[in-house]
Amino acid sequence: MPAPASPTTCRIAPSILSADFARLGEEVHDVIAAGADWIHFDVMDNHYVPNLTFGPMVCQALKPHAKRADGTPVPVDVHLMIQPVDALAAAFADAGADYISFHPDASAHVHRSIQAIKSKGVKAGLVFNPAEPLDVLDWTLDEIDLVLVMSVNPGFGGQSFIDSALRKIERVRKRIDASGRDIRLEVDGGIKIDNIARVAAAGADTFVAGSAIFGQPDYAAVIAAMRRQLAG
Ligand code: DX5
Ligand code: ZN
Repeated sequence: MPAPASPTTCRIAPSILSADFARLGEEVHDVIAAGADWIHFDVMDNHYVPNLTFGPMVCQALKPHAKRADGTPVPVDVHLMIQPVDALAAAFADAGADYISFHPDASAHVHRSIQAIKSKGVKAGLVFNPAEPLDVLDWTLDEIDLVLVMSVNPGFGGQSFIDSALRKIERVRKRIDASGRDIRLEVDGGIKIDNIARVAAAGADTFVAGSAIFGQPDYAAVIAAMRRQLAG
């Protein structure tokens, strides 16, 4: 098994899918004050996935809130669950996204979609569903900044972690290490205080958590407990 990432390089990315949509700006502010490293922004289109969330206008409205008390920006991590990809990816780049990830099976021309994102000066990522093979990485790993492994089927928060994601994370970690490139390995779905250490041990360094954080009254306590697990 690969050596886990050091806790200091790990990132916790709360998913605002589980936040109070009536108070989104405040929720972003509160979760950053509680220690969030990134803000994970789940875009669903009721086509690629059977749910519908928010678009680039909401991202643009939240962008000024994605900063720490001292003004340091907090990366906005946009996870596109949409088909087609390119037009909306460009709109999210213009709306202030720092990372834009998409599902390769939702794009007719994966390499072109990656280039479209990077041409806007935004970091690009590929997302792999639980049953999606990794083959496309043979041809794209040199181009991307992030690999996102889904540990639930996309579309909803609050689902249970699918254990086969651990094997997939191990395989992606080997590929990233062999590439020698600086690529984040993010995991999304069912991440909790009691499984984050196992996921880190498999090789992930960036952890999306929605219901685990926003489902509790004290966001800082959850994030601190996750960091203790990563450190321990
Ligand atoms: C699911 C989304 C996730 C979701 C995770 O399609 O991509 O980001 O918010 O939620 P939890 O952490 O509750 O499983
Ligand atoms: Zn997500």
